[in-house]
Amino acid sequence: MPRISNKGQQMPESPIRKLVPFAENAYKQGKTVFHLNIGQPDIKTPQIALDAVKIHSLDILAYTRSEGSEGYRKKIANYYAKNDIYVNHDDIIVTTGGSEALLFAFGTITDVGDEIIIPEPFYANYNGFSTSSGVNVVPVISKIEDNFALPPIEEFEKLITPKTKAILICNPGNPTGYLYSKEEIKKLAKIVKKHDLFLIADEVYREFAYDGIKHYSILQEEGLENHAIVIDSVSKRYSMCGARIGCLVSKNKEVIKTALKFAQARLSPPTLAQIASEAALETPQSYFDDVINEYVERRNVLIEELNKIEGVQVANPKGAFYCIAQLPIKNSDAFAQWLLESFDVNGETVMVAPAAGFYSTPGVGLNQIRIAYVLNKDSLVKAVNILKEALKVYKD
Ligand SMILES: Cc1ncc(COP(=O)(O)O)c(C=O)c1O
Repeated sequence: MPRISNKGQQMPESPIRKLVPFAENAYKQGKTVFHLNIGQPDIKTPQIALDAVKIHSLDILAYTRSEGSEGYRKKIANYYAKNDIYVNHDDIIVTTGGSEALLFAFGTITDVGDEIIIPEPFYANYNGFSTSSGVNVVPVISKIEDNFALPPIEEFEKLITPKTKAILICNPGNPTGYLYSKEEIKKLAKIVKKHDLFLIADEVYREFAYDGIKHYSILQEEGLENHAIVIDSVSKRYSMCGARIGCLVSKNKEVIKTALKFAQARLSPPTLAQIASEAALETPQSYFDDVINEYVERRNVLIEELNKIEGVQVANPKGAFYCIAQLPIKNSDAFAQWLLESFDVNGETVMVAPAAGFYSTPGVGLNQIRIAYVLNKDSLVKAVNILKEALKVYKD
C-alpha cells in the first residue's frame, strides 16, 4: 500500500472532536449528552445576517477576489475603527474562518523547522497548524495556580533562538479564558521588537471580555505595525461558525502581499458567507450586550458549581467562553471516554475535552479538562452535577 506522509502521521487528532464516536454510541443507547467539549455557541445568529442570504438574488454564485470583496473589507475596517483599531481595507485578507488565517500566517512567516513560542495551554489546533506547516511549537508554561497569567518576560527570552519567528497569543484565551492586560501586551511588544519577531494575536473572542475589562488589541499598540498579525473570525462573534469566514489583518505590507499569494492559491473565500458576514456587521450593540450578559451569568454559575466539588481547581475566566478545570483524576482522556461509555445520571451524561491536547509539553494537563460554557444555565448546573457524581465513583 502507498505510504502516508510522516507529517500526516504526526498530525494530532483534535481533542475537541476525537471522542465524537463515543458520544454517538451514547446517543444510540438513548442517553442525553451535554456538550461542554466544543465551542459551538447555542446563541442565535443575528437575523440580519440570515436574512441577507435569503433575500440576496444571484444569477451566478461566483468567486470573489482572493482577498475578499472590497465592500466587505471596507466594512470590516469600519468595525475595527469602532473598536479603536485603525486599519485600512488593504490591511485585511478575508479567509475561510480564523483557521485559514492561522494557516496563512504560518505560511507567510515560517519555513520548515522554524519555531513559534506559544503560552500553553493553547487552542489545540495550533498544534495541527504547526504540524502541517512544519513548524515547532515552543511552549511557555502558564499555570492554573496563577490563573494562567502571562509568564515573566525572562521565560520568553530564554526560549528565543535563531529559529524563532513569532510569539502567538490567544486573547481572550481559548482554553483558559485569560484576558491579557494592556501592560502584558506592551511587554510582549517590547520583546518582539527587541528580537525582531512577529506577534500573532488570535483575537476571535475580542467581544467576549467580562467584568468591565476592555480588550486591548495588538493593532492598537504603536510601533508594532511591522510585527503585528491579527487573526479574526465571525464564528464566535455572531455565532456564525458555519459561515467559515475570518480574516488576517496586518499593517505590514509584505505580510499582506505574501498572505495574498496563499489566498490566491485557494482562489476565494466563500461568497454567500461573505454576504452574511457583511450584513452581520450591522448587528446592533444590544445583541452583544445580551450575549455578554448571558455568558457572564453562565460563567458565574459554572465556576460557582465547579468550586463546590471537592478536589476540583478552576481558574476564573475573564473572557471567551471556556475554562480549564483540574480534577482529582490521573488521566482525563480515559475519564472523558468513561463518562460517555459507562456513566450517566438518569440517562444523562457530559462530553468534555481532555486538556492534554491543549498542551504541547507531553504529560502536562493530564488531570485537566476544558469546559465550554455554551449551554444554558440549567443545563450547565445539570452537567456539573453529573461531573460531581461521576468523580465520586470514578476509579483511574
Ligand atoms: C482560539 C481560536 N482561534 C481560531 C478558531 C478557528 O475558528 P474559525 O475557523 O471557525 O474561525 C477557533 C475556533 O474555535 C478558536 O477557538
